[in-house]
Amino acid sequence: MTKSTKIIIVAMTEQLLIGSAGHIPWQIPEELRLFRELTSGHTLIMGRHTFASIGRPLPDRRTIVVSRHLPATPGIDICADMPAALRLAESSADKIFFAGGFGIYRDALPLADQMHISWIKGAYAGDTYFPTFEAAQWQVVSEEGHGLFRHVLYCRR
Ligand SMILES: NC(=O)c1ccc[n+]([C@@H]2O[C@H](COP(=O)([O-])OP(=O)(O)OC[C@H]3O[C@@H](n4cnc5c(N)ncnc54)[C@H](OP(=O)(O)O)[C@@H]3O)[C@@H](O)[C@H]2O)c1
Repeated sequence: MTKSTKIIIVAMTEQLLIGSAGHIPWQIPEELRLFRELTSGHTLIMGRHTFASIGRPLPDRRTIVVSRHLPATPGIDICADMPAALRLAESSADKIFFAGGFGIYRDALPLADQMHISWIKGAYAGDTYFPTFEAAQWQVVSEEGHGLFRHVLYCRR
């Protein structure tokens, strides 16, 4: 079996803000399009609140939700913790995207090979943050301006 590439995907401000009252604090259709392009055909691992905020399984992707409380739901796989989610994802996926929120990112940071970060310009109010991380461990592979955000691909040094 070939090894899966493990990738964190996140949109955040310079203050590491990712969420507000269960939702994303900004509305940037181009950023959502980029998320769709990057993740289509692959596997997503996300937390229960993130799944609730999306409200449905996303098309063309396998969705694995980490939760001890979510009842069986059509169109998704549910795993009780990150190791179980990873085992399931690795059984089929070439690329595994960690799609938030906080606990998923925290557990994914030591495991991930790459990070796709959309750095959102400006300041927003909110309550959920990406975990602090050691920037020196990550090397910029590519960088692209998109007006309201800057998209950067990092790989682990
Ligand atoms: N800007 C972005 O790119 C982005 C991406 C994703 C989410 N968000 C935002 O972030 C917020 C949601 O994130 P959140 O941190 O509040 O919640 P979350 O991680 O989506 O969900 C939390 C729940 O998921 C389960 N869980 C998550 N990580 C786990 C882990 N490592 N091990 C075991 N269980 C785990 C637990 O469910 P049980 O209690 O059922 O066990 C936990 O209560 C929303 O505002 C959302 O819009 C933003």
